[in-house]
Amino acid sequence: MLRDFLVWMATHLGKGPGEDAMSWSEALAGSLNFWSLLEGTHVLSLMLFAGTIFVVDLRLMGALFRKTPVSVVSDRVLPLTVFGLVIMLVTGTALFFAKPLLYYHSLWFRLKLVFLAVAAINILVFHFRVQRDMEAWDAAPKPPAKARASAAVSLLSWVLVITFGRFIAYDWTNCGKPLPHWINVAEECQRSENGANDVAKAAGGALK
Ligand code: HEM
Repeated sequence: MLRDFLVWMATHLGKGPGEDAMSWSEALAGSLNFWSLLEGTHVLSLMLFAGTIFVVDLRLMGALFRKTPVSVVSDRVLPLTVFGLVIMLVTGTALFFAKPLLYYHSLWFRLKLVFLAVAAINILVFHFRVQRDMEAWDAAPKPPAKARASAAVSLLSWVLVITFGRFIAYDWTNCGKPLPHWINVAEECQRSENGANDVAKAAGGALK
């Protein structure tokens, strides 16, 4: 069902009358400069977003600004983090909108969304559980294990979001290529335009 909606969105949404008319998604994907501007903004806002998150996480792990209370560090940088996050979410959604089926069948995009969810759940756990007694350890050079663990999960999940985000641009595992069966399944290549091409079958075919 989701894929059918994305097919409709990619090929029909915003499409005017006439044979040469393009959907909004096609127009964005075909735009000379605007797509690149979106992509560039998505990458540049990363420094603001991830850079500020890493500062707070390293403080929570007792690795940075150990003499400054955690609340002081996070109060100073959190507005920048939120600003960066909004830009990343808006530009990311627009990038997805331009080529929804390419990203829908992308292993790297799917993994990126999984770790985006892990990072989001970790933020909720931190704010509603870990941070409840922060007054007790706010000025501690080395916060308690639960705070350090939450910071470690945050660091790891954002590094994975960024890494998988970077891998999206490469066609290593695009549907239609000879791929291990598990990748064809993970990317739902069977339902993609290029279909699923299992490396085992391809090799078996070649040996015959
Ligand atoms: C908020 C956290 C996010 C981070 C840290 C992040 C990070 C990244 C990074 C590092 C890249 C690689 C850019 C490059 O070097 O080419 C990327 C690409 C991409 N991101 Fe995000 N992203 C985030 C959110 C999102 C969201 C919410 C979406 C969409 C729902 C999204 C969609 C995309 C797409 C489609 C690309 C690939 C563009 C291409 O074809 O090269 N991102 N992201």
